[in-house]
Amino acid sequence: RKPPSRKGSMADVPKDLLDQIKRLEELFTVPGEKLKEITDHFVTELQRGLREEGSTIPMNPTWCMGFPDGHEQGTFLALDMGGTNLRVCEVTLTEEKGEFDIIQSKYRMPEELKTGTADELWAYVADCLQQFIEYHHEGQKIEQLPLGFTFSYPATQEYIDHGILQRWTKGFDIDGVEGKDVVPPFEAALAERNVPIKLTALVNDTTGTMIASAYTDPLMKIGCIFGTGCNAAYMEDCGSIPKLAHMKLDPKLPMAINCEYGAFDNEHKVLPRTPFDIIIDKESPRPGQQAFEKMIAGLYLGEIFRLVLLDLHQQPECHIFENQDISKLTKAYSLDAGFLAAIEEDPFENLSEVQDLFANTLGLTTTKPELELIRRLAELIGTRAARLSACGVAAICKMKGWETCHVGADGSVFNKYPLFKARGAQALKEILDWPEKKGKGRGDPVELFPAEDGSGVGAALIAALTLKRVIAGQN
Ligand code: GLC
Repeated sequence: RKPPSRKGSMADVPKDLLDQIKRLEELFTVPGEKLKEITDHFVTELQRGLREEGSTIPMNPTWCMGFPDGHEQGTFLALDMGGTNLRVCEVTLTEEKGEFDIIQSKYRMPEELKTGTADELWAYVADCLQQFIEYHHEGQKIEQLPLGFTFSYPATQEYIDHGILQRWTKGFDIDGVEGKDVVPPFEAALAERNVPIKLTALVNDTTGTMIASAYTDPLMKIGCIFGTGCNAAYMEDCGSIPKLAHMKLDPKLPMAINCEYGAFDNEHKVLPRTPFDIIIDKESPRPGQQAFEKMIAGLYLGEIFRLVLLDLHQQPECHIFENQDISKLTKAYSLDAGFLAAIEEDPFENLSEVQDLFANTLGLTTTKPELELIRRLAELIGTRAARLSACGVAAICKMKGWETCHVGADGSVFNKYPLFKARGAQALKEILDWPEKKGKGRGDPVELFPAEDGSGVGAALIAALTLKRVIAGQN
């Protein structure tokens, strides 16, 4: 969905507000040169992550060791524990090359679970799986079903069917899980309920996205998520992962690396953080972590926007929402990325949809100049997110020396935020210096495509590839 082009009319905007808009433009605009500097530092950090344990960007080996060839077969369960929903799929990879059947159920993930106890979390997840089996296999006697569990948080893995949670991200804050293997309590909850499921692979959403996308497009080399969080996975050669050298793996073997690059620049060396980014970080459950993610991911975009508006309101010379009840605007995380997207999508010259949105959601009356500022602010935050996001993808390509590749991308921001793709593509072009004419009409050298279903088909494929490897007696 493309926002219609409209000539922003700044003519009636009073000088004080214009000055504010200019200040915000300076704060939130990231020029091409800065993107290049960020990308270069990013490359260094990705490389450090491959060398040293405990680096800022963890570069987690996932033990997903190869792409599917399209001949995988069997029935697998896939579980996706996302932020808002819990999704269970049963994927049957059929004899036809690259074909599959899928049935699925979604369960709402109660918000309280994110900050509740570990027991509650695993009990809830196991209950959903039990319900799924009872509903879809009523009265059937089933053998143990292999499961690919998409657990989209940073995990240290020594095997594919285990994972020690390094830290919660994306606002999760459940005590007693960080630093521990998440699989035993999960399996214990299943066993208590006699659910006939065996966890075969613990998978990150980015890895699932890469594998699912590569199943249908052999040019896919990277899987990315631009959603509540932001991250990527790519396929590395074991010989280029110095921190695994002691394992004496065949250097030519492929290994999917879950970068966890939301943590990029936790040391604050290059990212152009604004005072609003600093507040977001300070007030989050994990200050000092996920510096990059907090500037670009869907969870935070609405919050950055809210903080800026609040700040403007507090400056008397701006006269923003003057003498109005701003109590709704003071509630943290009350605006999401969808709110920003709606502002950018208003097709009307007079921004009447934005006006209604502010009236209905926040109980605020807006003047024409205020509406112009609001629209510009949404554009600035959305554009910054897309441009900075491009640095991560560009850095992987630069590090690997890939001049061309396809990137499978998923997540609410990628799929729903207007112009996110075009803005990201423009930034990639500036960072990677593509000559003006090259690729015209044929797509860019590095191009992002909507991914296949990573946490469903991807997780099932990884479970299938794992079983195949076990049968072949490999690692
Ligand atoms: C966060 C998680 C990461 C996940 C990403 C996208 O960055 O730490 O594991 O891939 O969000 O969901």
